[in-house]
This record gives sequence, C-alpha cells and structure tokens, in this order.
Amino acid sequence: MVLLLKTIRELRSQIAIHRQKQQCQVGLVPTMGAFHQGHLSLIKRASAENNFVIVSIFVNPLQFTPTEDLAQYPRQLQQDLELCQKLGVDLVFAPENQEMNSSGDTTSLDDNTSVIPPQNMTDVLCGKFRPGHFTGVATIVTKLLNILQPDRAYFGQKDAQQLAIIRRLVADLNIPVKIVACPIIRETSGLALSSRNQYLTAREKEDAAQIYRSLQQAATAFNQGKLEAKVLIDLVKEKLSPVAGVTIQYVELVDPNTLQPLEQIKDAGLLAIAAYVGSTRLIDNIVLQKRQPIVAIDGPAGAGKSTVTRRVAHQLGLLYLDTGAMYRAVTWLVMESNIAIDNHEAIANLIKNVSLELTSPTAFDLPTIVYIDDREVTNAIRTPEVTANVSAIAAQAAVRQKLVEMQQQWGEKGGIIAEGRDIGTNVFPNAELKIFLTASAAERARRRLQDLQNQGRNDIDLQQLTQDIQQRDEQDSNRAIAPLKKADDAIELITDNLTIDEVIAKIINLYNQIK
Ligand code: PAF
Repeated sequence: MVLLLKTIRELRSQIAIHRQKQQCQVGLVPTMGAFHQGHLSLIKRASAENNFVIVSIFVNPLQFTPTEDLAQYPRQLQQDLELCQKLGVDLVFAPENQEMNSSGDTTSLDDNTSVIPPQNMTDVLCGKFRPGHFTGVATIVTKLLNILQPDRAYFGQKDAQQLAIIRRLVADLNIPVKIVACPIIRETSGLALSSRNQYLTAREKEDAAQIYRSLQQAATAFNQGKLEAKVLIDLVKEKLSPVAGVTIQYVELVDPNTLQPLEQIKDAGLLAIAAYVGSTRLIDNIVLQKRQPIVAIDGPAGAGKSTVTRRVAHQLGLLYLDTGAMYRAVTWLVMESNIAIDNHEAIANLIKNVSLELTSPTAFDLPTIVYIDDREVTNAIRTPEVTANVSAIAAQAAVRQKLVEMQQQWGEKGGIIAEGRDIGTNVFPNAELKIFLTASAAERARRRLQDLQNQGRNDIDLQQLTQDIQQRDEQDSNRAIAPLKKADDAIELITDNLTIDEVIAKIINLYNQIK
C-alpha cells in the first residue's frame, strides 16, 4: 500500500531521505480528497514530471465559510489511497486538524497566522461570496509548500481564481516552487468534474451540463470576433436563463493572471461562472485567448505520426515542432564539444544556456531548418554518428527537462503542431487539439512490410514484424521516461481503413472546428 503519513515530522524525514538521491524532483498535488478524474489527471501529470510524488489530502477548515459544507464535504480516504497506490504515488500526507494548526484544534482564521492575498484578487469572482475563503486557501497552501518544499506543485485550472492567487503568492513570497496548471477534466456532457458533483441528482446533472455549453457559446462568439465583456457575459446569462434548475451567482470576465475585470479582451480573458444547481454551488470557466491553437499528436510507433504531422503543419501553416531534430541538435553539440555521451553532469552544464531555433522548410518533405547557438546544423544533425548517439542523449533527465521547457516556451505563442508519445499528456497538456493516432499492430506491420519490400527487402516475415511491433508498444507504454500515453481528452484516430489523405483531412477538419 502507498505510504501514508499523518505527521509533519515523519513526512520531513521521508522527504530528506529521498532528497539524498541524485536528480531528485519532488512533485506535490495538494487536494482535499474525494478524488475524481480531475485529481487523477493532476497526479498523472506530477508523475510524468517528477520522480517522487506526494499527494496531500486535507479538508482544510480554514477555507470553509461558516455557512458552507465543511461537515458534509465528502471524505473517502481509503478509496483515495487505493487510487494513489494504483497511480504509483510515493507518499500520501493526510494530517489531522491539530497537526496543521500549531495552536491546537482550531478552525478559525482569527486563531491562526494567515496569508492574506491581495484584496483586489479576492474582491472579485468567488471571493465576493466566500469571505475568508482565499485567505484559508493561501494559508494552507503556503504551509504545505513550506513543509514539503516540492520542486513543482499541481493545481487545476477549474479553480482559476485559486490558481491565479497561488501563482501570485508564490511570486510575492519568493517561494521556490514551480506552479503547474492542469486543464479542466469534464464529463462527456461537458460538466466539469468536481467532488461536489456527488451532491447532484441525475436531473440536476443535466441542468449543470448547460453551464459549460453556455461558456462554449461565448467562446464561439469570441472566436468570431466578439471581444466585449458585456456581450460575452450576456450570452452566457441568456443561454442559461431558460434552465430553471440553474441559478447564476456571477458571470465575470477578468484578466486570467491579475483577475482584474476586463471591458474587452486584448490578449486573454477568463470567463468564469458560479451557479447553484439545487443547493449545490458549482463553478466553471473558460480562458478565451487570442493565440493560434496547439495541436498535439501522440501514438505508437509506426502509426504514421511524423508524415501526417509534417503534412498537416504544411497545409495549416503551423510550425512543426520537430522534437527529434532538437534532440539531434543537442547530440551534435555534445559530440562537437568532445564531451563523452555518458558524462551527464557535463552535458547538463553544456545545455544550461543553449539556444535553439527551428524554422519550417519550404516543403513538407524537406527537413526542419535547425540552428543551435546560432550555428545552422540542419544537415549536420542527420549524420549516422548523431543517429547512433541520440537515444542515449534523449534518455538523460536534464536534457529532457531543458528541451521540454523550451518546447513549452514556444508553445506559449501557439500555432504549433508536435508529435511524440507524451506531447498531449506532458509537453502540452493544455493543447487545444489532441489526437491519438493509432492503428492495429497487424496494420502497422503490413505497412512496414510494404515499405521494406519497396526498398527491395523480400526476406521479412509479417508475423515476426507484428510481434516486434507489439513488443515495442509494450516497452513504449511502460518505459520510465516519456512513456506512451493517451491524454484523457485526446481524440483517438484509428487509421486501419484510412488513406493518409483521409487522416490528414480528418485532422484539418477537427482543427477548423476548434479554431
Ligand atoms: O483545490 C483544493 O482542493 C484546495 O483548495 C487546496 C488547494 C487543496 C487547498 O486546500
């Protein structure tokens, strides 16, 4: 069973032991328990980016106002522990109230030292209706970050106000942690997952699904050029007004970082809503952003990802983020600098300040143009010597971390398409379009056989090829670094009976729907 700790003392000594290991990266997922797929997606993301994952489970009394559901809030520790165990969490910290309050079993903000977020961030959205809530959240999150000192902490975009406040508190108090935001996970009806959905009847769930539909309508209007807050807010209200079961508490458009109300969207706007469905208060939001979408294509080897991605990039005018070329460029630099391939420390140092630039070629079948430290290496990175060393370089944690950071920085501008095995889960979990491109092992083997036969190889056995592909799938799905994973919100495209042109047309069609 996953290690469960209830005291800060035990927790600190466990972390200290782990911290002695080389390249230790601690990821924290703070929760109040009662897990749903949203929590699990945070845990999965933390596991992909850290080698030690801690989940905290604490129903924090300080963030419940006196009229709220503290006593009723779902508590299901045993079930949560089993889920943590399944997901390979290293440690669960589930303290009692007394442990988290040095003055004893106190639940009142008045009896505690508090972390008070800026007033203009709590005067808006939920803060207006939940006095003291964000002080309670900021206080407990600061305590958890101080106690655990993680490298990264994971929060859901669903609590967008909480996320912005935590980012601000970490910046203002100089807490050395990276805050990672994870996308909202929804039911197929569109209803955002929440522990409080447990309170809803089937009928109420149907009504609740209209909340997201109303936000989507506003997003469509935004994409058609409607930028004014009043227009977008009114649209949400109009869409919800016929739904008798939903009573809106607020609909607001604010800056996603500062949370200050916007009259019009310049770069990005957070359109957020709180509404009662029966007696349950639900929140949801959507970020309206003027940037071109990101397309993430993942899937097993041999599914045709690379060809499809290049051609889609070319047709849509997106930058093909050729991650393979990036790893090749670093490999080239290591070899050029006469550093041994297994000298991890020297390589980590070498790439600390490296600069990489990728430019789209003029035709989809030409290689991506690559510059490393201002030297053009488009052809130099494609020699057999580089090919022979690239896997060993790509397996190094420091290299992966640096290149994923660079890819994410490019991603901020949008307008890119990337393919791999963990693009939609790890590199761009916020990608607007995620495709899981796959085909049966038999079909992939058939295609591979055809390729080999076209190269004059007639000595290959189809059954053996199929077995090799199945084995590779197994290895790719289970490897420690960047394992093959389908994102929960990816669209699966099975290409067995499709031509390459049909696959491309489908992806372009999906892209046009989200644009
Ligand atoms: O989002 C939550 O579950 C809580 O607000 C948090 C961040 C765990 C603090 O108690």
